[in-house]
Amino acid sequence: MIVSKDPNEVREQILSWKSQKLSVGFAPTMGFLHEGHANLFVRSSSENSKTVVSIFVNPAQFNDPEDYAKYPVNTEGDLEICKKSKVDLVFLPEKDTMYPGGIPEVELKIPHLMKNLDAITRPGHFEGVLLVLSRLFHSIPADRSYFGKKDYQQYLIVKDFVKALGFPMEIIGVDTVRSPEGLALSSRNARLTDSEKEEALLLSRALRLGESQIRGGEKDPQEVLNVMKDVLDSSSKITTDYLEILNADTLEELHILKGEVLLAVAAFLGQVRLIDNITVRVS
Ligand code: PAF
Repeated sequence: MIVSKDPNEVREQILSWKSQKLSVGFAPTMGFLHEGHANLFVRSSSENSKTVVSIFVNPAQFNDPEDYAKYPVNTEGDLEICKKSKVDLVFLPEKDTMYPGGIPEVELKIPHLMKNLDAITRPGHFEGVLLVLSRLFHSIPADRSYFGKKDYQQYLIVKDFVKALGFPMEIIGVDTVRSPEGLALSSRNARLTDSEKEEALLLSRALRLGESQIRGGEKDPQEVLNVMKDVLDSSSKITTDYLEILNADTLEELHILKGEVLLAVAAFLGQVRLIDNITVRVS
């Protein structure tokens, strides 16, 4: 496995693979890798000749400096997981290489997908994600890039962004990996105490209950939201950031549940902010 901090070296390597007609899959990450990430890498390996992973905690996408400062780091453990998942190249850039001269003043937006959810509660977050991805995609001109659907809004925005800017790259969304109890795997889970982890299960429980209401024939999003809200409110440790039901393709609000529907939640457990979602097809 090649490990490099140098964007030019990484680009040269990828271009050399592509000149040999080898396909390249890419999974951008912020490290502190877990099974959810490994799942992206394995998927990429099964669909491409070479798999590239980047590990970079991107300061431009944190609207809360404390959240950035506390983001967990474990480079040695990450490299082990990459090796086990048969990753071919790990790009480990420094902050100064990614942003020489500091974070540039440029604002990248996909306005129609940035009207709700994390775009509102984390102002500047997606602009920072699109900025780092633009830089990463220059160094890593992959054929396919893999994104976890736990960050569902990010996945939709990136898909649209790549299409709008004409990056010759396919964006592939990969299903969320959960603990056996249902907790969506996230690097942030490492910051939860055991009792907070227990309470965090209420997020996926609320989503599942919402899903069963919908499958039972409920067509009014407000009714479903009320049931889900009761689940979250049953814990005094949970502060809900948002709880929404939207069209899963456009992120538009719905008055009647129809088509592919997204149930999305963000909540704080103490200082830790967690997100989760599911999609349900309504006939
Ligand atoms: O999903 C993430 O981990 C990050 O937002 C990403 C895509 C690696 C950009 O920093």
